[in-house]
Amino acid sequence: MILRYIALLVAGLSVLTSKTWAVVDVSMEDRVDVSLKGQAVIPCMYNLEEPAKMIVWFTKLPGRDQSRIRIYYYDIQNEIIDEGSDYAGRLNVTHSYEQQNRRGSAILIIDSVQLSDQREFICVVHDMLTDSGEGHTRLQIFNSPSLPVIERTHTGISISAEEPSKVADCTVNDGYPRPNITWYKDRFPLQQSDGDIKIMESVTIKPNGLFTVESGLFIQVEKTDKDAYFYCEVKYFVPGGVKMTESKKINITVHYPTTDVRLYLNPPDKLIKEGDTVEIRCEGNGNPQPVFSFTHKGEDLRSENEILLLENVKRSDSGTYECLSNDFETGIDAEDSINITVHYLDRIVLTPEDTVLHQGQDLTLTCNALSSLPTNTAWYKDGMRLIEKHVLELHNVSYETAGIYICEVTVPSLPELQEQKSVQISVRGKPMITEEIAVGPVSKADRSVNLTCYAQGYPFPNITWTLADRQTGQPVPVSEAENQKTDTGVVSMISVKAMTQLTANCSATNEFGTVNVSRKIEAFARVTPSTTQATSTKGKGLTVPPKQPRTGGGSGVIIAVIIICLLLIAILGSVLYFLYKKGKLPCGRSGKQDFTKEKASKDDIVMEMKSGKSEEAVLLQGINGDKKSPTE
Ligand SMILES: *[C@@H]1O[C@H](CO)[C@@H](O)[C@H](O)[C@H]1NC(C)=O
Ligand SMILES: *[C@@H]1O[C@H](CO)[C@@H](O)[C@H](O)[C@H]1NC(C)=O
Ligand SMILES: *[C@@H]1O[C@H](CO)[C@@H](O)[C@H](O)[C@H]1NC(C)=O
Ligand SMILES: *[C@@H]1O[C@H](CO)[C@@H](O)[C@H](O)[C@H]1NC(C)=O
Ligand SMILES: *[C@@H]1O[C@H](CO)[C@@H](O)[C@H](O)[C@H]1NC(C)=O
Repeated sequence: MILRYIALLVAGLSVLTSKTWAVVDVSMEDRVDVSLKGQAVIPCMYNLEEPAKMIVWFTKLPGRDQSRIRIYYYDIQNEIIDEGSDYAGRLNVTHSYEQQNRRGSAILIIDSVQLSDQREFICVVHDMLTDSGEGHTRLQIFNSPSLPVIERTHTGISISAEEPSKVADCTVNDGYPRPNITWYKDRFPLQQSDGDIKIMESVTIKPNGLFTVESGLFIQVEKTDKDAYFYCEVKYFVPGGVKMTESKKINITVHYPTTDVRLYLNPPDKLIKEGDTVEIRCEGNGNPQPVFSFTHKGEDLRSENEILLLENVKRSDSGTYECLSNDFETGIDAEDSINITVHYLDRIVLTPEDTVLHQGQDLTLTCNALSSLPTNTAWYKDGMRLIEKHVLELHNVSYETAGIYICEVTVPSLPELQEQKSVQISVRGKPMITEEIAVGPVSKADRSVNLTCYAQGYPFPNITWTLADRQTGQPVPVSEAENQKTDTGVVSMISVKAMTQLTANCSATNEFGTVNVSRKIEAFARVTPSTTQATSTKGKGLTVPPKQPRTGGGSGVIIAVIIICLLLIAILGSVLYFLYKKGKLPCGRSGKQDFTKEKASKDDIVMEMKSGKSEEAVLLQGINGDKKSPTE
């Protein structure tokens, strides 16, 4: 393959080297390229009627000494590779002759080519007579260099420097022949120019003969260079051509003065309230950031250079904040300012404070809180919103209107600002007991039951309990009562062991008078948990006072209607159940399930009705169904 290529080349070769007196026509390539450590193939072609009688190869050292050194001799009898030359052991010659073209060749092959092989090789061909001819070939060695290494200047480069500043160094090693380095900025090649670009190159030849090229790029940087990238490109020769490689791209740090500063608030666009932490950041348009100083109301503030942290701000921290920068190098000053408003909502002022009134009196309550923003005021009692005004008027006060009133002030534009204050309004009067004595569930442990009595009134009434045996009429000792004040009265509770039928009497007294209620308590010597309660506890316990007064005749009608409805449902349920049991009612899988569920609950109601004591008991079960108290 190589031979054919060479033969073609040689055929077209115009430059033939031959001595004037020579007859033998020898042709060789001017130059043969070969990579370092590779194999050099140097062909020597001749035209003769018969194979050459003698062929000799010489080399010529580069430089001044032009003397020839024989490295190879060949004739019909002998082939001699000259010992002692650089080529003993690395050299080989192949001979061939084509009879029909009258052409012969002697191809010199050199293995593991060294840099020192870059020299001239001469082939001398002798024919049968004493004519001869010769040709020359120069061997050119190549070595591809390492990848270029770029190293940027790590410090920032000032645009105000007077001379071009070093931007980067580029190094390439082990090239042969000498590689070239070209610098690029954003894909445009840079050339040494008078003012602003300087390229300093140094070339070293290492002991092994290979080249190291170092190039330093110096430029007069501009502000825009902070976004530019720089790299170097290496061009080097390879056998038969030129190749190139590029270094990594680098950015440079450009230093330029601050001519303008801006203040930013963090968090931005948010109303600031007292107690907040606010961050004010000052940013200059230069690099690096200059030294900043902050002032407020003419006073210097301590900051972490560009950040001013205001913690737990007060309304007095409102106002203008200024940031000042000073560039020491250029002496340029810049400043910006920002206005901050710290919003607030003061504690509520509520007039009058806790008040005691007589029944029927009027009272005007006023609730105010100072704020830097528009506020909303609302009044609440027992969790219900009464009015959205700062004034609340109470007319003709009664026990119903007694209690705790809460005023709430909110700031719609800054919901975190919110204040609450309460006022207790007490209404003087004789105690009032609106509920009968409540009977709690029976304790399984000691068969005791809790009796609760709630009395409204102010001054808070004293509650006394008496218990009497209904059969004998004898008083029964009363356990210590547990009393608890509510907003408008007192809840009292005693624990009772009703071994016999008792009458419990709750009596409430204050300076305006006494009221009392009593209730019959059945004996519950044996606890039968399945029996249904006959009386409601109303489930209120100690803490929440019962509110509604007992309703009179009107509710009786409603109760009757509800009972009739329940009875009808129960009867219907029983009939349906009966039909179902008899199998008269066809039903699918899912339908059957639903039906049985319904049946069960209906059955429960029926059973309760049977075991219940009275119609009222059933109703109460229906309403407050979750609690059972087998008191009777
Ligand atoms: C390197 O530069 C020199 C001088 O400009 C030039 O003669 C040579 O051909 C260049 N080498 C390459 C590989 O381009
Ligand atoms: C005040 O309220 C009581 C009952 O709470 C009522 O009897 C009386 O008429 C009321 N007086 C006025 C002036 O409304
Ligand atoms: C009665 O009240 C007391 C105190 O609240 C409670 O510890 C006790 O369990 C109650 N007894 C019954 C039977 O509910
Ligand atoms: C309850 O006791 C009070 C005295 O503590 C007495 O005046 C009142 O008559 C009693 N009431 C009943 C219904 O026994
Ligand atoms: C209520 O009882 C307390 C002590 O138990 C007593 O000092 C006070 O005078 C009583 N008040 C009334 C109105 O009976």
